[in-house]
Amino acid sequence: MKNKLNNENSVELFRRAKEVIPGGVNSPVRAFTDVDTTPPFIVKADGSKIYDEDNNEYIDYVGSYGPMILGHNPSIVNEKLKEQIDNSLSFGAPTRLEVEIAELIKEIVPSIEMIRMVNSGTEATMSALRAARGYTGRNKIVKFAGNYHGHGDCLLVQAGSGALTHGVPSSSGVPESITDNTIVAEYNNIESVANIFKNYGRDIAAVIMEPVSGNMGVVPATQEFIDYVREITREYNSVLIIDEVMTGFRLALSGAQSLYKVEPDLTCFGKIIGGGLPVGAYGGKKEIMQCVAPLGSVYQAGTLSGNPLSMIAGITTLTYLKNNLKIYDDLEIKGEKLQRGIEKAIEDFKIEATVNRVGSMITLFFSSKKVKDYEDAKSCNTELFAKYFKAMLNERIYLPPSQFETFFISNAHSEKDIEDTIKAVRNTLHNLSCS
Ligand SMILES: Cc1ncc(COP(=O)(O)O)c(C=O)c1O
Repeated sequence: MKNKLNNENSVELFRRAKEVIPGGVNSPVRAFTDVDTTPPFIVKADGSKIYDEDNNEYIDYVGSYGPMILGHNPSIVNEKLKEQIDNSLSFGAPTRLEVEIAELIKEIVPSIEMIRMVNSGTEATMSALRAARGYTGRNKIVKFAGNYHGHGDCLLVQAGSGALTHGVPSSSGVPESITDNTIVAEYNNIESVANIFKNYGRDIAAVIMEPVSGNMGVVPATQEFIDYVREITREYNSVLIIDEVMTGFRLALSGAQSLYKVEPDLTCFGKIIGGGLPVGAYGGKKEIMQCVAPLGSVYQAGTLSGNPLSMIAGITTLTYLKNNLKIYDDLEIKGEKLQRGIEKAIEDFKIEATVNRVGSMITLFFSSKKVKDYEDAKSCNTELFAKYFKAMLNERIYLPPSQFETFFISNAHSEKDIEDTIKAVRNTLHNLSCS
């Protein structure tokens, strides 16, 4: 076991932060509320390592919640950024870089015929839904329990009291009149989708889904489920929106849609396409995207959309991935090794836990059964997760601070990083089994 963490500087910064920022953070998960711990305040990161204000070094599996597939501080991206900075930071005018990134994404992801850049994943999903509604002239949308698509009003819903009831707001400040048009279906449950379409099919503008959900921990859709959702949306002329904000360019170069061989009508991107800078994008069928202003009547705009720094970071990252496809094989090998190591520790120390993984996305669930939907995820032992999390942080392993998040492996993680992580997991689960 490692020496107890010194976190005096983070404690003091957190105290100051809480005076001036709600909860001390600019995005709620960063407050470490679920694990009842002071978050380390980060100074810098390099490769697979991240460093805090108290000079602690951790192996990082947060990766900024997904974008840092190449690891931190990648010189190829940073060099291009430095060159771009000399040309100034933002113009509010068209640039060559915007054309290049659109062409590049279109080349890599065959379902994309046209694409619009925005500034976050939230903007991408909100805008894709508006385009789908404008295109179909319908209002209702279907989302899946446990899938997260950012904080747009109509997506902040939880299932109502019956499978067919409309969603109720999961956040205060969201009027019911907005979530009234959102229907919540069960993930990986064909019958739930079939019933909703039977009742509302001709009013449904779009179904939005994570192909591999990373926002209840990693929970992949089954092939059968995705195929069914594609089929029924086609039958009812509803738009299928696949949210690849997390999975895009991570699970495969062409995203989860290439793994599942599914052709969505629209796709949302974010995270990796900005190489660590703020970004989002939505795109797909030309006839839908042509509804977007200034071509069509669906309004959507952004002062900083297509910002040259985000574009160059994105182009460089995507081009590097495209030219180094072996990265995906390596991520699979590292992911499998880590999964096996954790599973062996679970078995050896007789912990009620299970691992879900797709490629470089992985979650250890403290549950005695396999996790295949939101109900399963919710039944996990979150207290045990919090203990595990704190012990792992003390082992200098920086994991996402919630049972319902994914941890991300990057190209910069070495075999030694994975081995050290497995050792830390073994220490931690051994101690948990004794307590
Ligand atoms: C699948 C998915 N969609 C949308 C979003 C929202 O993206 P952003 O946080 O950039 O607004 C996220 C964020 O984690 C996500 O995982």
